[in-house]
Amino acid sequence: MSLTIKNSEQAIELENKHGAHNYHPLPVVLNKGEGVYVWDVEGKRYYDFLSAYSAVNQGHCHPKIVNAMMEQAKTLTLTSRAFYNDVLGSYEKYMTEFFGFDKILPMNTGAEAVETAIKLCRKWAYEKNNIKENDAIIVVCKDNFHGRTTTIISFSNDADACKNFGPYTPGFEKVEYNNLEDLEKTFKNTKNVAGFLVEPIQGEAGVYVPDAGYLTKAKALCEKYGVLFIADEVQTGIARTGRILAVDHENVKPDILILGKALSGGVYPVSAVLANDNIMEVIKPGQHGSTFGGNPIAAVVAIAALDVVKDENLAENAEKLGIIFRAKINEFLVNCDLVNSVRGKGLLNAILINDTEDSTTAWDICMKLRDNGLLAKPTHGNIIRFAPPLVMTEEQLLDCVSIITKTLSEFKK
Ligand SMILES: Cc1ncc(COP(=O)(O)O)c(C=O)c1O
Repeated sequence: MSLTIKNSEQAIELENKHGAHNYHPLPVVLNKGEGVYVWDVEGKRYYDFLSAYSAVNQGHCHPKIVNAMMEQAKTLTLTSRAFYNDVLGSYEKYMTEFFGFDKILPMNTGAEAVETAIKLCRKWAYEKNNIKENDAIIVVCKDNFHGRTTTIISFSNDADACKNFGPYTPGFEKVEYNNLEDLEKTFKNTKNVAGFLVEPIQGEAGVYVPDAGYLTKAKALCEKYGVLFIADEVQTGIARTGRILAVDHENVKPDILILGKALSGGVYPVSAVLANDNIMEVIKPGQHGSTFGGNPIAAVVAIAALDVVKDENLAENAEKLGIIFRAKINEFLVNCDLVNSVRGKGLLNAILINDTEDSTTAWDICMKLRDNGLLAKPTHGNIIRFAPPLVMTEEQLLDCVSIITKTLSEFKK
């Protein structure tokens, strides 16, 4: 079968006709990526300002990561966990040392890793924390995004994510994000709370950065009430916010850490759950797993992806460029009514468009940004997330700032 595409229209038509319409992509058809750039099938080059929702932190097609994948693919790709392989143990040692936990449980996608953390927390509650079976409650935050499985959407308050997908999985209680009073009240008044699942910055919700000290105090409350602090760093982790983990900004150590996306540099689905022995030991053979989880390709890819983050100082670069980005955009916003504010940490940022959530303004701005050579996507109608690959140079960032400010200046509603 030939995969040759004549032009963008043909590719879009094929997706529309044969694929489920579960996404609403910006009309641009990409066929090449390198570093901070992607190219469309007509040969036009763009800055990628989404990075596959922060999965491509190391830049597109990073040669070290791609080579690691190709070399491993020639010798052994998958054994399942029915047998040992000669790569997984080294990967597990590397990961546990890198993140400072006793054990890792390897999975593939972010949602699977979140599911794993939920199961781990519940089992720990019943076997180690005297909670009666089936009674455990996990506290989550309003406006969370943790993935798309039936259980995860059961505790979403986004109608698109959850409406008509019920019946929902019980055992979750919502609190306001960034509200310690609400968290403590819930811990105090709810029986059988086993865990608190939280995004250190709410990415999908529109890059909501909690107040400084929120994570530290939330962790302290978890300790006070004997609740596991579960950090979902699928989007915020792997240097995106200017530290290896977003919780590192406050030196908070989660009891359970969830990673995905950029753990693979975007070349392959790799996710992981990390915890210490007192928690992880509740999972015994046959009680949880995945055919592909911890496969040899995933293992070498993740090691290479983290080596790149370390060797190329991507956390430091994200921190530095993020400060410049927000300062430059803030300078511009003094005389711009179209945008209310910019917020974020490191290179996970967003601008808030001065219009209603159901307006098309943010979408229309993204279309103009596309025409001007920069790809970004609205989230929740009137917010545009800006998350370029972390291998960006200062010169490239300034070029992007000028594309964004020029586009906003020219934009007419
Ligand atoms: C915080 C967070 N958790 C989990 C997920 C789900 O990851 P995946 O799409 O790989 O299942 C996402 C995806 O955007 C996310 O942002």
